[in-house]
Amino acid sequence: MNTSTLIAGNNARRWTVSLMTITIAALLPSSSYAQQSNCPRAPNEPEVPECRPPVSPYKAIRFQGDYGSFLRVRKSVFELTPYEVDRLRYAFGALRRLSVEDPSDPRGWMMQANVHCWNCAGAAPPHGAGIDVHGHYWFLPWHRAYLYFFEKILGELIGEPDFALPYWDWDTEGRSRLPPLYNTPANVIDNPLYDSTRHGTDRCMPVQFMGPKVVNDVMTITDWELFMGKEAPLVPSGPVDPRKPPPTAGRFENTLHNIVHGWVPAAPPPPPPDQPTQNCGAPNMGIFSTSAQDPIFFAHHANVDRLWETWWRAGGEQRLPPDERWRRETFQFFDEHGHLVEISVQQLVEVTGSLGYTYSPPSAAGDAVTCPSAAMGAMEMALLAPPAASLVNVTPGAPNRLTSQPQTVAAPVRGTTPAVGFFEPAGALMAQREPRLHIDGVTLPPGQTATVRVLLHDPSAPALTSSAPVDETYFSIIPHHSSHALVQNVEIPLGPQAQQLLLPTAPPGLAMSYVEQPLLVTLVPTTPGGEPQALAPGYAAFGAMAAATVLDYRDIYITR
Ligand code: C2O
Repeated sequence: MNTSTLIAGNNARRWTVSLMTITIAALLPSSSYAQQSNCPRAPNEPEVPECRPPVSPYKAIRFQGDYGSFLRVRKSVFELTPYEVDRLRYAFGALRRLSVEDPSDPRGWMMQANVHCWNCAGAAPPHGAGIDVHGHYWFLPWHRAYLYFFEKILGELIGEPDFALPYWDWDTEGRSRLPPLYNTPANVIDNPLYDSTRHGTDRCMPVQFMGPKVVNDVMTITDWELFMGKEAPLVPSGPVDPRKPPPTAGRFENTLHNIVHGWVPAAPPPPPPDQPTQNCGAPNMGIFSTSAQDPIFFAHHANVDRLWETWWRAGGEQRLPPDERWRRETFQFFDEHGHLVEISVQQLVEVTGSLGYTYSPPSAAGDAVTCPSAAMGAMEMALLAPPAASLVNVTPGAPNRLTSQPQTVAAPVRGTTPAVGFFEPAGALMAQREPRLHIDGVTLPPGQTATVRVLLHDPSAPALTSSAPVDETYFSIIPHHSSHALVQNVEIPLGPQAQQLLLPTAPPGLAMSYVEQPLLVTLVPTTPGGEPQALAPGYAAFGAMAAATVLDYRDIYITR
């Protein structure tokens, strides 16, 4: 086939696809957003049919366990020897070459990147889509399997079976910045780890998103559901279906994991002229369907995998979902020989056992460069200080809109609460009940991304101006694909200080009735770089920005 046929073929298909999408959109149940994206399709975002995996002529073979004589040791990307750096580049180079020489080889670079595309977004029907492996408790094991086969393929291509992927330990002090070897030299020929869609080297992640407090908040969670995400049906990601309960991602996914995805890319694609207010996800890392086209993805996910392993080891069996459904689920991948293999979640629990790799912990010495910690600026404080009188009213069940301006709401306490805590020490009660802040039905417009700082205030403080938040955290949601809206529930465990505010106020020994006063919660939409959107130059420049939609949510409340 010559080039012109190829192009014509592509155009014809593109055209058919869009016609079909329009018809389908008309048939779908309407949600609060149009099904069509206002965000332009990212330049590298494959059209859906193009990320479909090749069909294997053979039935998948069962994974037998990896008990070879080579234990693959994954090290920090900041601690590689010169030889290991060369080997890493050589391996990614070989993978990229394979993709050019034989685009149909399922082990090649684009085919591998498309495995992730297919499993995060896929398509609008009828093109089909893989299962969406984000936003629920299969997120961690699926990505472990994906990296496992990817690592084995690299080792096979360079003939070194002990080849191991490095991890980017953004949680280590001084390393919450892009590892330099991924950015220099800045061209793919000399440096197959390079990707031109990133935002450069010399930045640090904002400390409110990546620093000791947030890392600790996540790593000290003890409940597997809060850490890993809740159970949800494994279904293709598609247009929002208002009849289905939204999935709840784990805190690990919707904080540390997502923040790195959103922070790496340079900038979102330019907004359409009539929509200057979009907060679109940016390729490659900032949109799941393109993210595995950036080699940093694999260093990022090796760290996600390492921290899951560390967290699980610290607590043992009760940190794994107890239900059989979780363990019995299977996923399919092409292995290093190009064979289709089926692996079960059960086989993915022990990394040094059946998967043949281990993590070498980051060295305590850390790295010479330190990332400055940014305190909240005066401007930002002023922005966060609406007097209590101007609380935004939330209507449960209705779409409540968050725009680029911070918003303070009263989050009521809901659910089972003992009327009188007469015989029971209040502290013990609190420990059992694990108070949480819920933000239900968070809906992002198609293709858009959101990172929201969540500040908890003492409601008895005279005015917010005089009260620093008693706790602060965030959540971040990354678009899976530019073509449909995304809806998730968010659950945030309350820190000790916020929990104190829920305690009964009566003196000990007297009958205590719980004071059902709501907590005040301020939601601050920010850019992936950490600035509040209402202050960030690129965003504030548009007068219309004040009204731009960041997200809708159905309800906000506290349970204990
Ligand atoms: Cu499948 Cu980091 O995402």
